[in-house]
Amino acid sequence: MTDLLAVHDLSVIYGTQAQAVERVSFVVGPREVVALLGANGAGKSSIMKALAGLVPARGELIFEGEPIGGLTVRQRVARGIVYVPEGRAVVGSLTVRENLVLGGYQLPATQRRERLTAMLDLFPELTGRLDGPAWRLSGGEQQMLAIGRGLMAGPKLLLLDEPSLGLAPLLVRRVFDRLAGIQQGSNLAIVLVEQNLQMTMRLADNIHFLRSGRLVGHRHRSDLQTGSARQEVIDAYLGSASHNAA
Ligand SMILES: Nc1ncnc2c1ncn2[C@@H]1O[C@H](COP(=O)(O)OP(=O)(O)OP(=O)(O)O)[C@@H](O)[C@H]1O
Ligand SMILES: [Mg+2]
Repeated sequence: MTDLLAVHDLSVIYGTQAQAVERVSFVVGPREVVALLGANGAGKSSIMKALAGLVPARGELIFEGEPIGGLTVRQRVARGIVYVPEGRAVVGSLTVRENLVLGGYQLPATQRRERLTAMLDLFPELTGRLDGPAWRLSGGEQQMLAIGRGLMAGPKLLLLDEPSLGLAPLLVRRVFDRLAGIQQGSNLAIVLVEQNLQMTMRLADNIHFLRSGRLVGHRHRSDLQTGSARQEVIDAYLGSASHNAA
């Protein structure tokens, strides 16, 4: 099967600074979840922003067989590439409904209404909160709203940047379980950025490890079934931060 997305030698350089991302290559198959794991500053968000068209990048991006490196953010969204930024990026002063509608701004009104209903089926905890301000949601609910807003556009590829950031472990599990449910019943492919190996393994098929802007290792989920295999990649690629413990 052909890849949905192929990334060849992607580099991101901010101004005259050192390279944030250096010649990164990976592929995402249809309906596949690919994770990028790495410590703070490893370049994870920079890769996501480059895929979304938010930062200038070198290298080649092929989506559904066509180069997309020259496309604007809007054009990429129209092709089905949607970025959900890190840090529960909901607009706090807008209502939950307005946040969701924002994600489907390019849709005809009828389709937008249908999608909104579908989102509320996925995230029923948002239903009673639709007309309240987004800032009043809990952290986990805000993350669900951010994901729901991304899904409103009907993406083929969801770029999900650290959905666990700042959430209590129980909420992280809820968000990931919900994502797994969404992904299983759909054609959606996901690039997931994370620091937490254990959570990532609930969702991702293939996991790439990133350090100082370079991909330094790769494992399939099936390679990480034992505690010692997980500890080995944590030691090799992620340092021994306790929240990563297998
Ligand atoms: N707009 C910017 N201008 C200059 N340097 C930047 C910019 N954004 C990121 N960087 C630098 O690029 C490197 C990679 O940052 P990036 O945000 O991609 O890391 P990350 O892996 O997402 O980290 P985190 O886990 O903390 O979110 C860092 O050294 C960072 O300081
Ligand atoms: Mg980041």
